[in-house]
Amino acid sequence: MQLIIINGPNLNLLGKREPEVYGHTSFEEYLAALKKAFPTVELSYFQSNIEGEIIDKLHETGFSYDGIILNAGAYTHTSIAIADAVASIKTPVIEVHISNVFAREKYRHHSYISKHCAGVIVGFGLNGYQLAINALINKSK
Ligand code: DQA
Repeated sequence: MQLIIINGPNLNLLGKREPEVYGHTSFEEYLAALKKAFPTVELSYFQSNIEGEIIDKLHETGFSYDGIILNAGAYTHTSIAIADAVASIKTPVIEVHISNVFAREKYRHHSYISKHCAGVIVGFGLNGYQLAINALINKSK
């Protein structure tokens, strides 16, 4: 099973960025543990702060991979272009947010992306990525 995690802007700073919201673990550290937890899954990772690069990656993987786990960061709340890309591809996408966006500022309550996703996982910290992988594994059974 071939899956990719796509992280959007500022998520390269996990571990350093607002640790009271996003925790103290870097994504690289977490990813290593995730790969160990799912030895049979072919798990790729892509992070970009650039909207067009995220769209290109969705196009590149969205017709051949078995699942995409997308945390588009703040683009979630602003990007019709990323939402259109998710709507255009065939691979199921699970939207993940580390923080509980609904317990935060009002502008974080709306996602352009959610309606095009197979599901949304919000507020479980980095564990949300693991929940998303499990959901994709169960979906494919
Ligand atoms: C986030 C929530 C977004 O509102 C924020 O802009 C992020 C991270 C999360 O994972 O909780 O960058 O997507």
